[in-house]
Amino acid sequence: MDRSCGMGLPMPMLLLLLLLLLLALSCPAGALENGLARTPPMGWLHWERFLCQIDCNQEPRRCISEQLFMQMADLMVSDGWRDVGYQYLCIDDCWMAPTRDKQGRLQPDPNRFPSGIRKLADYIHSKGLKLGIYADVGNKTCAGFPGSRGYYDLDADTFAGWGVDLLKFDGCNFGTLELLAEGYKNMSHALNKTGRDIVFSCEWPLYERPFQKPNYTEIKQYCNYWRNYADVYDAWGSVKNILDWTSYNQDSIVDAAGPGGWNDPDMLVIGNFGLSWDQQVTQLALWAIMAAPLLMSNDLRQISSQAKALLQNKEVIAINQDPLGKQGYRITKESNFELWERPLSGGAFAIAVLNRQEIGGPQAFVFSTAFLGNGLACNPACSIQQILPTSVDLGLHNWVSPLKVVVNPTGTVLLKTVVTEEKLFDNGNKHFPEFF
Ligand code: GAL
Repeated sequence: MDRSCGMGLPMPMLLLLLLLLLLALSCPAGALENGLARTPPMGWLHWERFLCQIDCNQEPRRCISEQLFMQMADLMVSDGWRDVGYQYLCIDDCWMAPTRDKQGRLQPDPNRFPSGIRKLADYIHSKGLKLGIYADVGNKTCAGFPGSRGYYDLDADTFAGWGVDLLKFDGCNFGTLELLAEGYKNMSHALNKTGRDIVFSCEWPLYERPFQKPNYTEIKQYCNYWRNYADVYDAWGSVKNILDWTSYNQDSIVDAAGPGGWNDPDMLVIGNFGLSWDQQVTQLALWAIMAAPLLMSNDLRQISSQAKALLQNKEVIAINQDPLGKQGYRITKESNFELWERPLSGGAFAIAVLNRQEIGGPQAFVFSTAFLGNGLACNPACSIQQILPTSVDLGLHNWVSPLKVVVNPTGTVLLKTVVTEEKLFDNGNKHFPEFF
């Protein structure tokens, strides 16, 4: 019997094709599918630590120059940053000359980048690293250098020609909301058209939010990650504000994140001046829970071994880079404690217990494993590892075990649960941690 409908294809095959076509037409597009940022990008970005220092005569070691980036590139390799995953070395604002060249192309400041960006990219690539650069959707960057409005294709081609691997696209001086959206979409297309793999970092929702609710379904079709909230500062107040904003808005932003597209709570300021040790632990632990890009802004030439060990902690990085790509969220806030969790691959969970109290000493928080993963994280049992502030094996627990952690003021205890099939004890406490 001929079941091919006269097209040479057997009927089941034809139905399958039809089904695929219908699916393609009916499914909303997912993340920007440029194959990049399948896990949150990791690297270094100059802004928070080095700002817009352009006076290399007065500040030769701190000015925004090719030398600064070459020194950071050397250290990213020699001090083990690259090997734990920090790969993108990113230039922020203030790299440009004040005007475009005669052909209308962006050009670096000739005194501070005398070899040009192509050479710098070659150097960075020769170290096994990738180069990020910065531009702006509007008429001028935030610091007043030339913006990309009207030049999206040319700028994308320029960056691709230089060998750039990531573009941070700021939103200052964006004009109207229509121009803002159009600009981000056009630049995303322009980058794709170059054929070069260029991660696209946006600030679209940050600039849109004061006027209207951002449409994350749309934004994630164009951007690999996006800033939602104010710039991070080297201060606990700033980290707290970012966490509060994120938990307050979690219902509208958490589901937007996934492989290819991430919420960006801004740079890690660990290793600088403003955060205590416990606050640095909190920033890294919560950035891991939030599936945030890990872009350090610090001086790798002068960083304490404690901050370095924290930033290079492989267990925390593994949580941040978990391939499931689900962003975590706050489960509860009870007086001064916040309990956050992030689902990980294989039924595991990362758990953060943050002590928001800013007076007194370490405080105990007791909770039941039944709270975790909607009751599934430890069902029927799980092993629990404390990862921060220090590594401790907390042993096996069943699905209603009480768990007690002691957390310093403004600090965080980061745990990882791994579900096991092993059934536990009938006789009570033998698997409870020693504090029971
Ligand atoms: C801000 C942006 C910062 C930094 C700065 C540069 O708008 O949020 O991260 O890029 O501009 O001028």
